[in-house]
Amino acid sequence: MDGRARVAIVGAGFMGGVHSNAVRASGEVLVGVADSNLEQATALQIRAQAERVTASATALIEAPDIDTVHVCTPNATHFGLVQAALRPGKHVVCEKPLATTAAEAAQLEDLAREAGVVAAVPFVYRFYPMVREARERVRRGEAGRLSVLHGSYLQDWLAWESDDNWRVDPAQGGRSRAFGDIGVHWVDLVEFASGQRLVRVNARLLTLYPQRQGPHGLFDVHTEDAATVNFETDGGAIGSVVLSQAAAGRKNRFSFSIDGTEASFVFDHDRPEQLWVGGRAASQVLVRSPEDLSPAAAPYATVPAGHPQGYQDCFNAFVADFYRAVRGGTPDGLPRFADGRRAAQVTEAVLASAESRSWAEVAPT
Ligand SMILES: NC(=O)c1ccc[n+]([C@@H]2O[C@H](COP(=O)([O-])OP(=O)(O)OC[C@H]3O[C@@H](n4cnc5c(N)ncnc54)[C@H](O)[C@@H]3O)[C@@H](O)[C@H]2O)c1
Repeated sequence: MDGRARVAIVGAGFMGGVHSNAVRASGEVLVGVADSNLEQATALQIRAQAERVTASATALIEAPDIDTVHVCTPNATHFGLVQAALRPGKHVVCEKPLATTAAEAAQLEDLAREAGVVAAVPFVYRFYPMVREARERVRRGEAGRLSVLHGSYLQDWLAWESDDNWRVDPAQGGRSRAFGDIGVHWVDLVEFASGQRLVRVNARLLTLYPQRQGPHGLFDVHTEDAATVNFETDGGAIGSVVLSQAAAGRKNRFSFSIDGTEASFVFDHDRPEQLWVGGRAASQVLVRSPEDLSPAAAPYATVPAGHPQGYQDCFNAFVADFYRAVRGGTPDGLPRFADGRRAAQVTEAVLASAESRSWAEVAPT
Protein backbone atom coordinates (compact mmCIF):
# COMPACT_ATOMS: atom_id res chain seq x y z
CA MET A 1 0.00 0.00 0.00
CA ASP A 2 1.47 3.39 -1.02
CA GLY A 3 -1.14 5.76 0.41
CA ARG A 4 -3.31 5.63 -2.67
CA ALA A 5 -6.80 4.17 -2.32
CA ARG A 6 -7.42 0.77 -3.90
CA VAL A 7 -10.76 1.02 -5.60
CA ALA A 8 -13.49 -1.26 -6.93
CA ILE A 9 -16.14 -0.02 -9.34
CA VAL A 10 -19.36 -2.00 -9.26
CA GLY A 11 -21.58 -1.40 -12.30
CA ALA A 12 -19.86 -0.65 -15.59
CA GLY A 13 -22.57 1.34 -17.38
CA PHE A 14 -22.74 5.09 -17.91
CA MET A 15 -21.82 6.01 -14.35
CA GLY A 16 -19.19 3.29 -13.95
CA GLY A 17 -17.31 5.02 -16.77
CA VAL A 18 -17.68 8.47 -15.22
CA HIS A 19 -16.52 7.20 -11.80
CA SER A 20 -13.53 5.38 -13.26
CA ASN A 21 -12.37 8.56 -15.05
CA ALA A 22 -12.64 10.46 -11.76
CA VAL A 23 -10.84 7.77 -9.72
CA ARG A 24 -7.95 7.86 -12.16
CA ALA A 25 -7.91 11.66 -12.22
CA SER A 26 -7.67 11.59 -8.43
CA GLY A 27 -4.59 9.36 -8.68
CA GLU A 28 -6.07 6.34 -6.90
CA VAL A 29 -5.55 2.76 -8.04
CA LEU A 30 -8.46 1.27 -9.96
CA VAL A 31 -8.08 -2.35 -8.91
CA GLY A 32 -11.21 -3.96 -10.27
CA VAL A 33 -14.45 -3.59 -12.17
CA ALA A 34 -17.52 -5.78 -11.54
CA ASP A 35 -20.67 -5.98 -13.59
CA SER A 36 -23.21 -8.78 -13.82
CA ASN A 37 -22.75 -8.33 -17.56
CA LEU A 38 -19.14 -9.51 -17.96
CA GLU A 39 -18.83 -8.07 -21.47
CA GLN A 40 -19.75 -4.63 -20.15
CA ALA A 41 -17.32 -5.03 -17.24
CA THR A 42 -14.49 -6.10 -19.53
CA ALA A 43 -15.03 -3.14 -21.86
CA LEU A 44 -14.64 -0.77 -18.90
CA GLN A 45 -11.71 -2.69 -17.45
CA ILE A 46 -9.83 -2.27 -20.73
CA ARG A 47 -10.79 1.39 -21.21
CA ALA A 48 -10.01 2.33 -17.59
CA GLN A 49 -6.99 0.01 -17.32
CA ALA A 50 -8.26 -1.70 -14.17
CA GLU A 51 -6.17 -4.57 -12.83
CA ARG A 52 -8.96 -7.17 -12.89
CA VAL A 53 -12.57 -7.83 -13.86
CA THR A 54 -15.38 -10.03 -12.58
CA ALA A 55 -19.10 -10.67 -12.88
CA SER A 56 -19.34 -11.12 -9.10
CA ALA A 57 -19.82 -7.81 -7.30
CA THR A 58 -19.56 -9.32 -3.83
CA ALA A 59 -16.31 -11.20 -4.60
CA LEU A 60 -14.69 -7.90 -5.65
CA ILE A 61 -16.20 -5.88 -2.78
CA GLU A 62 -14.97 -8.39 -0.20
CA ALA A 63 -11.47 -8.78 -1.68
CA PRO A 64 -8.89 -7.87 0.98
CA ASP A 65 -6.89 -5.63 -1.37
CA ILE A 66 -9.89 -3.33 -1.96
CA ASP A 67 -10.42 -0.47 0.51
CA THR A 68 -13.01 1.65 -1.34
CA VAL A 69 -16.10 0.71 -3.33
CA HIS A 70 -18.01 2.81 -5.85
CA VAL A 71 -21.56 1.49 -6.34
CA CYS A 72 -22.83 2.43 -9.83
CA THR A 73 -25.61 -0.13 -10.36
CA PRO A 74 -29.41 0.24 -10.67
CA ASN A 75 -31.05 1.79 -7.61
CA ALA A 76 -32.63 -1.29 -6.00
CA THR A 77 -29.26 -3.06 -5.79
CA HIS A 78 -27.61 -0.25 -3.79
CA PHE A 79 -28.90 -1.40 -0.39
CA GLY A 80 -27.37 -4.88 -0.56
CA LEU A 81 -24.13 -3.84 -2.25
CA VAL A 82 -23.48 -0.98 0.17
CA GLN A 83 -24.11 -3.29 3.13
CA ALA A 84 -21.63 -5.76 1.65
CA ALA A 85 -19.03 -2.97 1.46
CA LEU A 86 -19.70 -1.53 4.92
CA ARG A 87 -19.57 -4.89 6.71
CA PRO A 88 -15.78 -5.23 6.24
CA GLY A 89 -15.33 -1.47 6.83
CA LYS A 90 -14.71 -0.15 3.31
CA HIS A 91 -15.23 3.45 2.29
CA VAL A 92 -18.19 3.83 -0.07
CA VAL A 93 -19.39 6.10 -2.82
CA CYS A 94 -22.95 5.05 -3.62
CA GLU A 95 -24.83 6.53 -6.53
CA LYS A 96 -28.09 8.34 -5.94
CA PRO A 97 -30.65 7.41 -4.86
CA LEU A 98 -28.80 5.89 -1.90
CA ALA A 99 -31.72 3.47 -1.46
CA THR A 100 -35.23 3.13 -2.78
CA THR A 101 -36.88 3.73 0.61
CA ALA A 102 -36.11 6.21 3.38
CA ALA A 103 -35.95 3.38 5.93
CA GLU A 104 -33.21 1.61 3.96
CA ALA A 105 -31.32 4.86 3.36
CA ALA A 106 -31.42 5.58 7.12
CA GLN A 107 -30.12 2.08 7.83
CA LEU A 108 -27.18 2.61 5.47
CA GLU A 109 -26.38 5.97 7.02
CA ASP A 110 -26.36 4.36 10.49
CA LEU A 111 -24.19 1.45 9.31
CA ALA A 112 -21.67 3.82 7.71
CA ARG A 113 -21.45 5.88 10.92
CA GLU A 114 -20.93 2.75 13.01
CA ALA A 115 -18.25 1.54 10.59
CA GLY A 116 -16.46 4.89 10.89
CA VAL A 117 -15.87 5.11 7.14
CA VAL A 118 -16.35 7.93 4.63
CA ALA A 119 -19.61 7.37 2.78
CA ALA A 120 -20.76 9.75 0.06
CA VAL A 121 -23.48 10.16 -2.57
CA PRO A 122 -22.62 11.93 -5.84
CA PHE A 123 -24.86 14.97 -5.81
CA VAL A 124 -22.20 16.29 -8.14
CA TYR A 125 -23.88 19.45 -9.36
CA ARG A 126 -22.71 20.96 -6.07
CA PHE A 127 -19.23 20.97 -7.62
CA TYR A 128 -19.82 23.53 -10.37
CA PRO A 129 -17.76 26.60 -9.44
CA MET A 130 -20.68 28.94 -10.23
CA VAL A 131 -22.96 26.94 -7.90
CA ARG A 132 -20.36 27.36 -5.13
CA GLU A 133 -20.21 31.07 -5.96
CA ALA A 134 -24.01 31.43 -5.63
CA ARG A 135 -23.95 29.50 -2.36
CA GLU A 136 -21.18 31.65 -0.94
CA ARG A 137 -22.93 34.91 -1.87
CA VAL A 138 -26.21 33.72 -0.34
CA ARG A 139 -24.30 32.61 2.76
CA ARG A 140 -22.72 36.08 3.04
CA GLY A 141 -26.24 37.58 3.04
CA GLU A 142 -25.98 39.24 -0.38
CA ALA A 143 -29.39 37.91 -1.44
CA GLY A 144 -31.15 39.60 1.46
CA ARG A 145 -34.26 37.76 2.55
CA LEU A 146 -35.03 34.77 0.35
CA SER A 147 -38.57 34.80 -1.01
CA VAL A 148 -38.94 32.22 -3.78
CA LEU A 149 -36.81 29.27 -4.90
CA HIS A 150 -37.80 27.89 -8.28
CA GLY A 151 -36.65 26.07 -11.37
CA SER A 152 -36.81 22.87 -13.32
CA TYR A 153 -34.97 19.71 -14.31
CA LEU A 154 -35.93 18.49 -17.76
CA GLN A 155 -34.87 15.59 -19.99
CA ASP A 156 -36.42 13.96 -23.06
CA TRP A 157 -34.98 10.47 -23.24
CA LEU A 158 -38.20 8.77 -21.99
CA ALA A 159 -40.61 10.88 -24.05
CA TRP A 160 -41.81 8.11 -26.37
CA GLU A 161 -43.91 5.05 -25.60
CA SER A 162 -41.14 2.91 -27.11
CA ASP A 163 -38.51 4.30 -24.72
CA ASP A 164 -37.55 1.92 -21.94
CA ASN A 165 -34.97 1.64 -19.18
CA TRP A 166 -34.61 -0.18 -15.86
CA ARG A 167 -35.63 3.11 -14.16
CA VAL A 168 -39.21 2.64 -15.46
CA ASP A 169 -39.57 -0.56 -13.42
CA PRO A 170 -40.23 0.24 -9.73
CA ALA A 171 -38.61 -3.06 -8.71
CA GLN A 172 -35.29 -1.76 -10.08
CA GLY A 173 -35.60 2.01 -9.95
CA GLY A 174 -37.86 2.57 -6.95
CA ARG A 175 -41.42 3.86 -6.63
CA SER A 176 -40.58 7.31 -7.98
CA ARG A 177 -38.85 7.92 -11.32
CA ALA A 178 -38.82 11.57 -12.44
CA PHE A 179 -38.53 12.80 -8.86
CA GLY A 180 -36.40 9.93 -7.53
CA ASP A 181 -34.01 10.06 -10.49
CA ILE A 182 -33.58 13.79 -11.21
CA GLY A 183 -35.78 15.69 -8.75
CA VAL A 184 -33.49 14.64 -5.90
CA HIS A 185 -30.56 16.34 -7.65
CA TRP A 186 -32.51 19.60 -7.96
CA VAL A 187 -33.67 19.58 -4.34
CA ASP A 188 -30.20 18.73 -3.05
CA LEU A 189 -28.67 21.52 -5.10
CA VAL A 190 -31.18 24.18 -4.11
CA GLU A 191 -31.01 23.24 -0.44
CA PHE A 192 -27.21 23.34 -0.70
CA ALA A 193 -27.08 26.72 -2.45
CA SER A 194 -29.87 28.43 -0.52
CA GLY A 195 -29.05 27.05 2.93
CA GLN A 196 -32.77 26.39 3.43
CA ARG A 197 -34.55 23.05 3.63
CA LEU A 198 -37.92 21.92 2.32
CA VAL A 199 -40.32 21.27 5.18
CA ARG A 200 -43.50 20.44 3.26
CA VAL A 201 -44.38 19.64 -0.33
CA ASN A 202 -47.42 19.54 -2.57
CA ALA A 203 -46.75 17.37 -5.60
CA ARG A 204 -48.57 16.20 -8.70
CA LEU A 205 -47.24 13.37 -10.84
CA LEU A 206 -47.92 12.54 -14.46
CA THR A 207 -47.49 9.14 -16.09
CA LEU A 208 -47.81 9.64 -19.85
CA TYR A 209 -48.38 6.05 -20.96
CA PRO A 210 -50.26 3.29 -19.10
CA GLN A 211 -47.99 0.84 -20.91
CA ARG A 212 -44.59 1.00 -22.61
CA GLN A 213 -42.91 -1.20 -25.13
CA GLY A 214 -40.12 -3.25 -23.55
CA PRO A 215 -37.86 -5.95 -25.00
CA HIS A 216 -40.47 -8.59 -24.06
CA GLY A 217 -43.56 -6.70 -25.27
CA LEU A 218 -45.91 -4.22 -23.61
CA PHE A 219 -45.68 -3.76 -19.85
CA ASP A 220 -47.59 -1.64 -17.33
CA VAL A 221 -45.98 1.59 -16.17
CA HIS A 222 -46.22 2.59 -12.49
CA THR A 223 -43.64 5.38 -12.27
CA GLU A 224 -44.04 9.04 -13.22
CA ASP A 225 -42.61 10.76 -16.29
CA ALA A 226 -43.12 14.26 -14.92
CA ALA A 227 -43.80 16.00 -11.62
CA THR A 228 -44.52 19.43 -10.25
CA VAL A 229 -43.66 20.14 -6.64
CA ASN A 230 -44.63 23.22 -4.66
CA PHE A 231 -42.86 23.60 -1.36
CA GLU A 232 -42.25 25.65 1.75
CA THR A 233 -38.86 25.94 3.44
CA ASP A 234 -37.62 26.21 6.99
CA GLY A 235 -36.40 29.73 6.19
CA GLY A 236 -39.85 31.08 5.33
CA ALA A 237 -39.45 30.90 1.54
CA ILE A 238 -41.81 29.21 -0.89
CA GLY A 239 -40.94 27.56 -4.16
CA SER A 240 -41.69 25.18 -6.97
CA VAL A 241 -39.90 22.85 -9.33
CA VAL A 242 -40.99 21.26 -12.62
CA LEU A 243 -39.47 17.87 -13.49
CA SER A 244 -39.82 15.87 -16.67
CA GLN A 245 -38.14 13.03 -18.54
CA ALA A 246 -40.41 13.65 -21.54
CA ALA A 247 -39.71 17.28 -22.49
CA ALA A 248 -38.64 17.07 -26.16
CA GLY A 249 -35.38 18.84 -26.80
CA ARG A 250 -34.31 19.10 -23.17
CA LYS A 251 -31.38 16.75 -22.72
CA ASN A 252 -30.28 17.42 -19.17
CA ARG A 253 -31.41 20.96 -18.54
CA PHE A 254 -31.83 22.07 -15.00
CA SER A 255 -31.90 25.54 -13.62
CA PHE A 256 -32.62 27.22 -10.35
CA SER A 257 -33.41 30.74 -9.31
CA ILE A 258 -32.82 31.76 -5.72
CA ASP A 259 -34.71 35.03 -5.41
CA GLY A 260 -33.96 37.44 -2.60
CA THR A 261 -34.93 40.96 -1.67
CA GLU A 262 -31.42 42.28 -2.47
CA ALA A 263 -30.16 39.88 -5.14
CA SER A 264 -31.31 36.86 -7.11
CA PHE A 265 -29.05 34.10 -8.40
CA VAL A 266 -29.78 31.99 -11.47
CA PHE A 267 -27.77 28.93 -12.48
CA ASP A 268 -28.62 27.20 -15.77
CA HIS A 269 -26.95 23.88 -16.54
CA ASP A 270 -27.03 24.68 -20.27
CA ARG A 271 -24.58 27.51 -19.41
CA PRO A 272 -22.69 26.16 -16.40
CA GLU A 273 -19.87 28.66 -16.68
CA GLN A 274 -22.22 31.54 -15.87
CA LEU A 275 -24.17 32.86 -12.92
CA TRP A 276 -26.83 35.53 -13.39
CA VAL A 277 -26.92 37.95 -10.49
CA GLY A 278 -30.01 40.11 -10.48
CA GLY A 279 -30.24 43.37 -8.55
CA ARG A 280 -32.75 46.23 -8.26
CA ALA A 281 -30.34 48.77 -9.73
CA ALA A 282 -28.43 46.54 -12.11
CA SER A 283 -28.03 42.89 -13.03
CA GLN A 284 -24.97 41.11 -14.34
CA VAL A 285 -23.81 37.80 -15.73
CA LEU A 286 -20.71 36.51 -13.93
CA VAL A 287 -18.51 34.30 -16.09
CA ARG A 288 -16.28 31.77 -14.33
CA SER A 289 -12.86 33.19 -13.84
CA PRO A 290 -10.64 31.70 -11.13
CA GLU A 291 -9.22 35.12 -10.15
CA ASP A 292 -12.66 36.65 -9.56
CA LEU A 293 -14.37 33.83 -7.67
CA SER A 294 -14.83 33.90 -3.92
CA PRO A 295 -12.34 31.75 -1.94
CA ALA A 296 -15.07 29.14 -1.39
CA ALA A 297 -15.59 28.67 -5.14
CA ALA A 298 -12.12 29.27 -6.57
CA PRO A 299 -10.66 25.81 -5.73
CA TYR A 300 -13.30 24.25 -7.98
CA ALA A 301 -12.18 26.28 -11.00
CA THR A 302 -9.46 23.98 -12.30
CA VAL A 303 -8.72 25.54 -15.69
CA PRO A 304 -8.41 29.20 -16.75
CA ALA A 305 -11.38 31.33 -17.77
CA GLY A 306 -12.58 30.66 -21.31
CA HIS A 307 -11.75 26.94 -21.10
CA PRO A 308 -15.15 25.48 -20.21
CA GLN A 309 -15.58 23.04 -17.33
CA GLY A 310 -18.36 20.48 -17.45
CA TYR A 311 -20.00 17.45 -15.91
CA GLN A 312 -16.93 15.19 -15.74
CA ASP A 313 -15.00 18.02 -14.07
CA CYS A 314 -17.71 18.18 -11.39
CA PHE A 315 -17.38 14.47 -10.90
CA ASN A 316 -13.62 14.67 -10.67
CA ALA A 317 -13.95 17.42 -8.04
CA PHE A 318 -16.45 15.35 -6.05
CA VAL A 319 -14.25 12.25 -6.13
CA ALA A 320 -11.13 14.27 -5.25
CA ASP A 321 -12.94 15.71 -2.21
CA PHE A 322 -14.16 12.23 -1.26
CA TYR A 323 -10.58 10.91 -1.17
CA ARG A 324 -9.48 14.05 0.68
CA ALA A 325 -12.01 13.04 3.37
CA VAL A 326 -10.75 9.44 3.31
CA ARG A 327 -7.25 10.84 4.10
CA GLY A 328 -8.69 12.75 7.07
CA GLY A 329 -9.50 16.05 5.38
CA THR A 330 -12.74 17.96 5.91
CA PRO A 331 -13.84 19.20 2.48
CA ASP A 332 -16.73 21.64 2.60
CA GLY A 333 -19.97 20.48 1.02
CA LEU A 334 -19.14 16.82 0.38
CA PRO A 335 -22.54 15.12 -0.07
CA ARG A 336 -22.64 12.25 2.40
CA PHE A 337 -25.03 9.40 3.22
CA ALA A 338 -27.02 11.82 5.41
CA ASP A 339 -27.77 13.76 2.23
CA GLY A 340 -28.75 10.54 0.48
CA ARG A 341 -31.08 9.74 3.35
CA ARG A 342 -32.48 13.26 3.16
CA ALA A 343 -33.23 12.80 -0.57
CA ALA A 344 -35.08 9.55 0.16
CA GLN A 345 -37.17 11.32 2.81
CA VAL A 346 -38.11 14.13 0.41
CA THR A 347 -39.00 11.52 -2.24
CA GLU A 348 -41.35 9.77 0.18
CA ALA A 349 -43.02 13.08 1.05
CA VAL A 350 -43.49 13.81 -2.67
CA LEU A 351 -45.11 10.39 -3.21
CA ALA A 352 -47.34 10.81 -0.14
CA SER A 353 -48.44 14.24 -1.30
CA ALA A 354 -49.21 13.07 -4.82
CA GLU A 355 -51.21 10.12 -3.48
CA SER A 356 -53.28 12.25 -1.10
CA ARG A 357 -53.36 15.28 -3.45
CA SER A 358 -52.52 17.47 -0.48
CA TRP A 359 -49.52 18.89 1.38
CA ALA A 360 -47.17 16.41 3.03
CA GLU A 361 -44.51 17.09 5.66
CA VAL A 362 -40.90 16.15 4.93
CA ALA A 363 -39.57 14.09 7.82
CA PRO A 364 -36.97 16.17 9.70
CA THR A 365 -33.45 14.85 9.16
N1 LIG B 1 -24.90 11.23 -9.98
C1 LIG B 1 -25.28 11.34 -11.23
O1 LIG B 1 -25.10 12.40 -11.84
C2 LIG B 1 -25.92 10.18 -11.91
C3 LIG B 1 -26.16 10.20 -13.29
C4 LIG B 1 -26.71 9.05 -13.90
C5 LIG B 1 -27.02 7.93 -13.13
N2 LIG B 1 -26.79 7.96 -11.79
C6 LIG B 1 -27.08 6.76 -10.96
O2 LIG B 1 -26.07 5.78 -11.23
C7 LIG B 1 -26.61 4.47 -11.12
C8 LIG B 1 -26.32 3.70 -12.41
O3 LIG B 1 -26.94 4.37 -13.50
P1 LIG B 1 -26.39 4.22 -14.99
O4 LIG B 1 -27.04 5.29 -15.79
O5 LIG B 1 -24.93 4.12 -15.01
O6 LIG B 1 -27.04 2.79 -15.37
P2 LIG B 1 -26.57 1.80 -16.53
O7 LIG B 1 -27.76 1.02 -16.88
O8 LIG B 1 -25.86 2.56 -17.62
O9 LIG B 1 -25.46 0.86 -15.82
C9 LIG B 1 -25.78 0.00 -14.78
C10 LIG B 1 -24.84 -1.21 -14.85
O10 LIG B 1 -25.00 -2.01 -13.68
C11 LIG B 1 -24.96 -3.39 -14.06
N3 LIG B 1 -25.60 -4.17 -13.01
C12 LIG B 1 -26.93 -4.33 -12.77
N4 LIG B 1 -27.12 -5.04 -11.64
C13 LIG B 1 -25.89 -5.37 -11.17
C14 LIG B 1 -25.43 -6.09 -10.03
N5 LIG B 1 -26.29 -6.62 -9.13
N6 LIG B 1 -24.10 -6.24 -9.86
C15 LIG B 1 -23.22 -5.72 -10.75
N7 LIG B 1 -23.61 -5.02 -11.84
C16 LIG B 1 -24.93 -4.84 -12.04
C17 LIG B 1 -25.61 -3.43 -15.42
O11 LIG B 1 -25.24 -4.58 -16.16
C18 LIG B 1 -25.11 -2.13 -16.05
O12 LIG B 1 -23.92 -2.32 -16.77
C19 LIG B 1 -28.09 4.65 -10.82
O13 LIG B 1 -28.32 4.50 -9.45
C20 LIG B 1 -28.40 6.07 -11.25
O14 LIG B 1 -29.44 6.69 -10.52
C21 LIG B 1 -26.24 9.05 -11.18
